[in-house]
Amino acid sequence: MSELYRFGVSLEKTLIDAFDRHISEQHYKSRSEALRDLIREELLKKQWREGGQVAGAIVMTYDHHKRELLNQLLDIQHDFQETIISTQHVHLDHHHCLEIVAVRGTADQVEKLATQLKVQAGVKHLSLSISTAG
Ligand code: NI
Repeated sequence: MSELYRFGVSLEKTLIDAFDRHISEQHYKSRSEALRDLIREELLKKQWREGGQVAGAIVMTYDHHKRELLNQLLDIQHDFQETIISTQHVHLDHHHCLEIVAVRGTADQVEKLATQLKVQAGVKHLSLSISTAG
């Protein structure tokens, strides 16, 4: 773990009250912990905006009986082979499949891939979770 630094922060009463409510709702153990997450999140957003590398996961469910859907999903994934690290496929029931696609690239590439998969007929739900690449 890197060295810890302490600094004082001055806030208006209404703002710190609202922050404390947020901390309690999110079950943070301390203000420091909550503040660290906010700072990390903001720096990550900056990284996305500047085209830095991000890593993440696309989680989607689809009906594999839909005509041509499997071929379309595969074609799209092959177009993004440099962005996709790995995929995991789970047969949920007779109709439905769950796929988890681990991705790494610029936020633009990753979002483009997620959008192209999401709009295919037969894809029931898709969510994209982006984290820092390092
Ligand atoms: Ni399946």
